[in-house]
Amino acid sequence: MQREGYDPIESASRDEIKALQLARMKWSLAHAYGRVEHYRNKCQAAGVHPDDLKTLDDLSRFPFTGKQDLRDTYPFGMFAVPMNEVLRIHASSGTTGRPTVVGYTRNDLDMWANVMARGIHGAGGRAGDIVHNAYGYGLFTGGLGYHYGAERLGCTVIPMSGGQSERQVQLIMDFKPDIICATPSYMLALAEEFSRQGINPADSGLRLGLFGAEPWTNEMRREIESLFCIDAIDTYGLSEVIGPGVAFECGETKDGPHIFEDHFYPEIIDPATGEVLPEGQFGELVFTSLTKEALPVIRYRTRDLTRLLPGTARPMRRMDKITGRSDDMLIIRGVNVFPSQIEELILKNKTLSPHYVLEVSRDKHLDKLDILVEMKPGVGVDAAATAAELQHHVKSYIGISSEVRVLPAGTIERSVGKAKRVIDLRP
Ligand code: DLL
Repeated sequence: MQREGYDPIESASRDEIKALQLARMKWSLAHAYGRVEHYRNKCQAAGVHPDDLKTLDDLSRFPFTGKQDLRDTYPFGMFAVPMNEVLRIHASSGTTGRPTVVGYTRNDLDMWANVMARGIHGAGGRAGDIVHNAYGYGLFTGGLGYHYGAERLGCTVIPMSGGQSERQVQLIMDFKPDIICATPSYMLALAEEFSRQGINPADSGLRLGLFGAEPWTNEMRREIESLFCIDAIDTYGLSEVIGPGVAFECGETKDGPHIFEDHFYPEIIDPATGEVLPEGQFGELVFTSLTKEALPVIRYRTRDLTRLLPGTARPMRRMDKITGRSDDMLIIRGVNVFPSQIEELILKNKTLSPHYVLEVSRDKHLDKLDILVEMKPGVGVDAAATAAELQHHVKSYIGISSEVRVLPAGTIERSVGKAKRVIDLRP
């Protein structure tokens, strides 16, 4: 079942899509190579030049990009345009203290708003809908990404941002939005707030929910859909590639997000060897941007594990649910967290030892992080004060609430092989 989309490209044939991809890929490789010294050096070290790309499959000869490249060139070293052409900056978690910084030109912002409008339209949103946007506004791409996409489509946007659940419920009941945008776990927390206020979530009047930014299951989808009487749609993206708007499910099929492959070219690789895997096999998702100006990314390793599936409601290919990651990044209440970021903060305190455990659990529907850390032997430590200080640092540097417990030396179990630092008890 293929319906008319928001953009003409949504009804193009596979051959038309591939021809467009090849032309754009040639441009993107040449743009990155010509403008970003870091890419040029990496390509030269690998013995490839943009002119070597004759077919889409030739992309596999080019080197990968990862968070480490952005870290090495922090903050703006991977930008391919002068700063006076960069109109917006966003940032996501790096593996340690410094965030991963991304930038957008005017054309990039225009393309981003367009793919978001396309995605919201495909999900079932229309001009004239009222959109309650509960994704965080700020450096995170979720809030502003959805904001400008919904405006582009012609919707009325309520820029609520995350948190303040009581107020969210009040505004939903008063403003009667048609669409809500949030992380799926926050949507479940909102359901509880509705009940706490004695309101049945099904009476919210919402029609459609656009969820993403963290892994969720189809069981969770069904739970949200039956609680609120809405259609719940999976939407995927990452800051380095654009933000939200990389892939959106279609409302009529809800069978996995269609990748907007006229702008973001996907590959699936074996995370251990880097070899490209045939379509349908599970592996790590890799993206090459085809039109981005400020921050072109060539073979960016997302670390997300999934597989590519053929198109259904649209000719563009779909991705399956993310089954996990090939690194140790956690997503806690929608915030990306690397254990190494917390370790860095622990070790800044000279009275704490490197023996720690991160326990992630779910309290009702919200994620909860407990940090258990040992004090160094023989140092007199005010455990409560030290815990409060670390808790404060984790909140201010990483942006998540946690509960820190400072324990006597020798109480955390020692590993005999690889340290098991993360205990994830979430269902
Ligand atoms: O989370 C962008 C976004 C905002 C997507 C709002 C959807 C809605 P980052 O903060 O850079 O960007 O985090 C990207 O989040 O690599 C995945 O691991 C995870 N992720 C995003 N969407 C999904 C999803 C935004 N639908 C990282 N399912 C990605 C599973 C997701 N994981």
